[in-house]
Amino acid sequence: MNPSQSNKIAPVTLLNRGSIAVISIENAPVNALSHAVREGIVSCLKAAEKDNGVKAIVVSCVGSTFIAGADISEFGQPALEPHLPDVLAQLDRCSKPIIAALFGTVLGGGFEVALSCHYRVALTHTKLGLPEVTLGLIPGAGGTQLLPRLAGLEMALEMITLGKPHTAKKLFDHGVIDLLVEEDSSLAEGSLLKQAILFAYTILDTGQGVRRVSQMNIETSDSHVELFDQWRKKIAKKARGQKAPQCAIDAIENAVLLPFEEGKKCERDLFIKCRDSSQSTAMRHAFFAERRAAKLPECYDKTQNTPLLPIKQVAVIGAGTMGGGIAMCFANVGLSVKLLEMSEDNLARGLSAIRTRFDQALSRGLINEVQLEQRMSLIVGTCDYEDLADVDLVVEAAFETMAVKQQIFSTLDQVCKVDAILATNTSYLDIDEIAQSTSRSHKVLGMHFFTPANIMKLLEVVCADDTDEQTLKTVMALGKKLGKVSVAVGVCYGFVGNRMYSCYGREANMLLLEGASPDQIDTAMRNWGMAMGPLAVNDMSGIDIAYKARQENAILKQDPLYFRASDLMVEAGRLGQKTGMGFYRYDSDTKKPQIDESVLVVFAKEALKLGVLQRHNISQEEIQNRLVFALINEGARILSEGIATRASDIDAIWLNGYGFPRHLGGPMCYADEVGIDKVVAGIKVYQEQGNGLYWHTAELLERLIISRGKLSQQ
Ligand code: 3HC
Repeated sequence: MNPSQSNKIAPVTLLNRGSIAVISIENAPVNALSHAVREGIVSCLKAAEKDNGVKAIVVSCVGSTFIAGADISEFGQPALEPHLPDVLAQLDRCSKPIIAALFGTVLGGGFEVALSCHYRVALTHTKLGLPEVTLGLIPGAGGTQLLPRLAGLEMALEMITLGKPHTAKKLFDHGVIDLLVEEDSSLAEGSLLKQAILFAYTILDTGQGVRRVSQMNIETSDSHVELFDQWRKKIAKKARGQKAPQCAIDAIENAVLLPFEEGKKCERDLFIKCRDSSQSTAMRHAFFAERRAAKLPECYDKTQNTPLLPIKQVAVIGAGTMGGGIAMCFANVGLSVKLLEMSEDNLARGLSAIRTRFDQALSRGLINEVQLEQRMSLIVGTCDYEDLADVDLVVEAAFETMAVKQQIFSTLDQVCKVDAILATNTSYLDIDEIAQSTSRSHKVLGMHFFTPANIMKLLEVVCADDTDEQTLKTVMALGKKLGKVSVAVGVCYGFVGNRMYSCYGREANMLLLEGASPDQIDTAMRNWGMAMGPLAVNDMSGIDIAYKARQENAILKQDPLYFRASDLMVEAGRLGQKTGMGFYRYDSDTKKPQIDESVLVVFAKEALKLGVLQRHNISQEEIQNRLVFALINEGARILSEGIATRASDIDAIWLNGYGFPRHLGGPMCYADEVGIDKVVAGIKVYQEQGNGLYWHTAELLERLIISRGKLSQQ
């Protein structure tokens, strides 16, 4: 075949370059292995095998990356032939040497394609990995059998069970990559292909021929049984409650115990078991929920192609823990930041705390010294509002008091240029009211970061009544640049996350008065899957933080029990870790929480005073359901009110801001898993046994029972 006889089977094409056939895949955005791609590969491979003029084959991709995996959107639908393992078996068995030309993110099925080829050429910074466990899966097309043969057991166990990719440079050292190609920014893709073709000729010239990974031996030692044991224990801790990583270890162990074909068959069975599990459904929901959040729903996106405002210089008001973390977020992506404080002393303290946090990142190997100094130099302190005249955006992170915020916004309105965006990091206050203190309410919105702001992935972008589309879209794009999962939400007390969290915390507080201990509640929620229990979280963040806001909350007049347990702690000076005691007592050296029976006496006395009957047989299930059903019910209300526009947005918020277990997909997804009818039945029980003020079933849940609809799809 000559170059003009290209055999185009969209989206895969075959083109001969001399005696090398190039199979080229083009399936935007990430060249996922959809049904059409699998068919195309098989067809091109057959043609190249048949063609006597072809002596070797290069598999390459067009676009921003080599194949980034199986097409996740096809999971859950009937699987169409050819199945991926069969496609890869054909690559493996091909009689002509096959070379993969790798760049971008070579993930999952994409990495399995590469491992099924006979040689691998890669751009130096290519990232390669098997992240299937992050989707509740294991590699399902030979990854668990091939990688240990090439990279060794330790490396395979690490990459597959943790799902973290490595660079081509690192994998070159482990024998996975045969040739590294230095990045050539002028034409990376073209030069990579050229190098891969040259490599193919070298293979032919030196007579190396095909080299099937499937036929390689795995290097093992007597201690491999111990090695698997260690990994099972390690993963049980690291991926608490998740089934896929343990299945992945079983599959890798099979690679040692069984011949390749049998090991591959067992891997496929385990893959299908994982794929059809509720955990994988939830984790795939989480994947798409996070990406969907970045796309504004119609109600916020009325004018297409709104030009975004350039954000080059920003300012942060307040150099406390929150303000400092926000300043770090901006500096991390190269934006220069003016950090404003009221006094030189506060400023010096704030800047020094930022340096300490960057130092910690340095000692963990997350940044190097040059990056540390660059980032510090981007943050310039000031006590003078006039220095903010030229910034494009300000984030205010001062005290949670309306009068303070209004004063700051009024000043900002006077000193900042007319098109500067003014954002508040308030957690609870009414942003419409804050905006009224300016003459540019269309440029005011919320940027609600979560502590520690430089680490937590969530950013609630709160759209106030007057916020215009340009401002909202500019801040959503900025959130993406900061590496955040940004979710657009509306204004109400606590927005989406904290409003729901207050229902969850309210039940934890109520249970304390009813006789449950802090440890009983926290253990129940950890066993359920939360990263930390609610009361330990409260001790960590400081019980006094929301105290003042709670005293001003109108609910307190109707309900003296509302967060009473927390208020009792604050009134006794037990503010949490910072005072050495809160719901727990803290060892001054280890900072580890210790059970403190004395708080139970305080709660029992208060319960007696307020007429709450104490029970000492509160079950783990009751604790879990009361806290989680309260979340679900409030989430459903938030959706009906339009504060969140999509259930998946609520899930993205809870997964990224509140330690909600990813394998349960977020509260809305979890409600479907439990069954909306069961959730509603639970709510009715709690209404009868508890405080009828809160336990009213959200109308949306009642409607979904009748329509048999899914909450997560609202
Ligand atoms: N299948 C289908 N769609 C995918 C996809 C996949 N594997 N990977 C990404 N996409 C889609 C996203 O949904 C998004 O679509 P949208 O624009 O309509 O929202 C688009 O591609 C771009 O994705 P991102 O916004 O995430 O783009 P980034 O540039 O930030 O990241 C990426 C690119 C690193 C490839 C990231 O998308 C990613 O990590 N993807 C998942 C990779 C993965 O998990 N692969 C394994 C799949 S399972 C598997 O292969 C099983 C096998 O063993 C049998």
